[in-house]
Amino acid sequence: SAVLLLNGPNLGVLGRREPEIYGTDTLADIEKAVAEEVRARGWQVVSVQHDGEGELVGAIHRHRDATVGAIVNPGALMIAGWSLRDALASYPSPWIEVHLSNVWAREQFRHDSVIAPLASGVVVGLGAFGYRLAAQALMHLCAEPSE
Ligand code: DQA
Repeated sequence: SAVLLLNGPNLGVLGRREPEIYGTDTLADIEKAVAEEVRARGWQVVSVQHDGEGELVGAIHRHRDATVGAIVNPGALMIAGWSLRDALASYPSPWIEVHLSNVWAREQFRHDSVIAPLASGVVVGLGAFGYRLAAQALMHLCAEPSE
C-alpha cells in the first residue's frame, strides 16, 4: 500500500522559501520523515508536488485507487482551490490537511481553507513535524478493525 503525499504551489522550494515562516526542512526531508513514519505499516510514499492546480487534480485521480490515504498541503490553494477541492471530494480514502505555519496567526486571507471541511483532520502550525503527525493520524484512521 502507499500513502499519497501531495504538496501544492511553492512547496517544492521548501528549505529556502521564507525559512523564518516555513522552516529549513526541504521537501525531500519531509518525504523521508513521512516514509519513516509509515514504514511501520509497510506503506510506501508517493510524493507529488506541483505549482499548478490542474496537475494536482490529475495526480489525485491518477493515484486514487493505488493509495490508502493522503496528506495534503494545498499551499495558497487553500484560499480558492475549488478544482482541488472537488478532486479531493472524489478521493475515496481518508486524507489530512497540513499547514507548516499557523495560518490563523497570519494574514486574514489565510484564515479559511476551502478544502478543510472535507478533510478527516487538519494539522496546523507545527512545521515539518506536522507531516509526521498527519502520517500517524492516517495510520490510525486506516487501522485494522482488530487493532
Ligand atoms: C501553507 C500556508 C499557506 O497559507 C501558504 O500559502 C503556503 C504554505 C503552510 O504550509 O503553512 O503556501 O500551506
